[in-house]
Amino acid sequence: MLAPLSNRVALVTGAGKRLGRAVAIGLAEQGADVVIHYRSSEGEAYEAVAEVKKLGRRSIALQADLARVSDLPKLFQEVESNFGRLELLVNSAANFLQTEFASTTEKMWDASLDTNLKAVFFCCQAAAPLLKKSKGAIVNFADIGGILGWRGFIPHSISKAGIIMLTRCLAKELAPEIRVNAIAPGTITMPGDPPELEADFVKVAPLHRSGRPADIVAAVSYLAAAQFVSGQVLVVDGGRTL
Ligand SMILES: NC(=O)c1ccc[n+]([C@@H]2O[C@H](COP(=O)([O-])OP(=O)(O)OC[C@H]3O[C@@H](n4cnc5c(N)ncnc54)[C@H](OP(=O)(O)O)[C@@H]3O)[C@@H](O)[C@H]2O)c1
Repeated sequence: MLAPLSNRVALVTGAGKRLGRAVAIGLAEQGADVVIHYRSSEGEAYEAVAEVKKLGRRSIALQADLARVSDLPKLFQEVESNFGRLELLVNSAANFLQTEFASTTEKMWDASLDTNLKAVFFCCQAAAPLLKKSKGAIVNFADIGGILGWRGFIPHSISKAGIIMLTRCLAKELAPEIRVNAIAPGTITMPGDPPELEADFVKVAPLHRSGRPADIVAAVSYLAAAQFVSGQVLVVDGGRTL
C-alpha cells in the first residue's frame, strides 16, 4: 500500500527551525516533498531544504512575513508554479509573547493575534483552492495555553484558543474536500532549551516528561493521514491538561 504521505506536497510554515523544521524533515522521511517556509531564518531554512533533498525528496524555501496578509497569495502561487499542487498545509509558525496584563499594549496584542491567528486564517484561505483540487488537509498548531489560559500570556492564549475554533469552523467550511485538524502541544523541549523548562512541566504532567519533536511529528503525521478525522484538536501534552 502507498504510504499516505508518499509523493505528497506539503508546506510547513516556520520550518527553518525547531518544531516546524522537525515536522518538515519528518514528512520528508515519510516520502513527502516539502516547501520550507521561513521569515527571517534564511540560513536554517536552506539547511532544512538540503536535509529534505538528502532524503531524496524535492524541496524549496519560500520567505514571507505571514503577518502581511497581502503577501500570502504569492506564497501559494509560488508553491503552484514549483510543484503544481499542494496536499498538506501545516501552520506551525507563531510567536510566543509574554505580556503582563497591566502593561500589555495594543501593539503587543496585534503582534500576537496577527501572526498566531489572522495569518493562519489567511494562509488557509490562500491555500484552499490548491487543497480543494488535491482533496488535501490542513494541520494547525494550537497550544494547551489556548485551553487552560496562561497568566502573563493573555493575547497568546487567546490566539491559540482562536486556532481551536478556527479549526472547527474551517473543517465545516472546507468539507468535504479538505480536512482541517489541529494539535495542541504542551511543553516540547529541544536540545539547548533551559533545563527548568522541562523540570517545571515534569512536575505537573502525569507522564512525567516534556514532549519531544518526535511526539509532534507523530501527531501531525497521524492527522495528515487520518482520512475520516476532521475538526479535531489532538492534545499532545503528556496528560498535562487532565
Ligand atoms: N515549543 C513548544 O513547547 C510549544 C508548545 C505549545 C505550542 N507550540 C506551537 O508549536 C508551533 C511551533 O513552535 P516552536 O517552539 O517551534 O516555535 P518558534 O520557534 O517560536 O517559532 C517558529 C517559527 O515561526 C516563525 N514566525 C514567527 N512569526 C512569524 C511571522 N510573522 N511570519 C512568518 N513566520 C513567523 C519564525 O520563523 P523565522 O525564524 O524564519 O523568523 C519561527 O522560526 C507554534 O505554533 C507554537 O505556538 C509550541
